[in-house]
Amino acid sequence: MAASTAATTGDERRAEPEATVLRADDVAVHFGGVKAVDGVSITLTAGRIFGVLGPNGSGKSTLLAALTRLVPLTRGRLEFQGKPYDTVRPHTIAARGVARTFQTVRILPGRTVFDNVALGAESAGRPGSIGRAGKAERGRVRQRVRTAIERTGLSGKERHRPDELSYGYQRRVEIARAIASEPTLLLLDEPTAGMNRQERDDITGLLDDLRGEGLTQLLIEHDVQMMVEACDHLFAMNFGELIADGEPESVVRHPAVQEAYLGTQGRAHA
Ligand SMILES: Nc1ncnc2c1ncn2[C@@H]1O[C@H](COP(=O)(O)OP(=O)(O)OP(=O)(O)O)[C@@H](O)[C@H]1O
Ligand SMILES: [Mg+2]
Repeated sequence: MAASTAATTGDERRAEPEATVLRADDVAVHFGGVKAVDGVSITLTAGRIFGVLGPNGSGKSTLLAALTRLVPLTRGRLEFQGKPYDTVRPHTIAARGVARTFQTVRILPGRTVFDNVALGAESAGRPGSIGRAGKAERGRVRQRVRTAIERTGLSGKERHRPDELSYGYQRRVEIARAIASEPTLLLLDEPTAGMNRQERDDITGLLDDLRGEGLTQLLIEHDVQMMVEACDHLFAMNFGELIADGEPESVVRHPAVQEAYLGTQGRAHA
């Protein structure tokens, strides 16, 4: 049985392939009269990259906020690794293994790159333990930080403050912080926004490597071609609802998806 082999650091957080990692059922988030998310049901299985496509304002970021418990649900149920979590606090679900990056970078500008990434490594499932952490644990945290820094192309920038770095590098710091927590599920809201082609390829290469290691991911990006190439499965949203769900090529060809994009962008150029 594979279950007894997951003895090394981090591996125990990876779910078995094809296992359901997250299930959202009929999730709605309304802001007054705005139905930002309205009845979305999705299932994320282990070791795959899922993508969320949709025009501006279609509810993608609000869905991520719901999944990370940053906004109250108007209705619906959430399950992570078989356990309901629709009423838990954001730090609890983070400690259980859900990490995320934000559409607008959220890092501490006055702290070094190393310290920012360390915040992720220290939050890895042991809330409250850092103050009492022994030497061995501190060594493991430092190692996780170093690995995350290396993997995101931040080597040599450890002592810089994020505000001395370009926007693309600040995004890398956020991704490094997220992966330093060795999550089971990584949610990324437009991680390559503001990056050039080479930087974007570096990041999608990293996400691909992480998938190879069994990390489940949910990725929001606007570039349809990139999403088809990067993702195993796509969800398409419009006006807060899921309008298509399935294999990437078929989702982007779906008439409702075509209409959503043509309806908001393409007609102006037609
Ligand atoms: N905190 C909030 N209060 C009120 N309305 C909000 C709030 N957050 C989002 N909305 C509204 O909910 C809708 C969905 O917004 P959301 O940011 O989720 O869209 P999105 O798909 O991420 O868009 P984009 O591609 O531009 O990032 C929009 O109409 C937005 O104005
Ligand atoms: Mg958004």
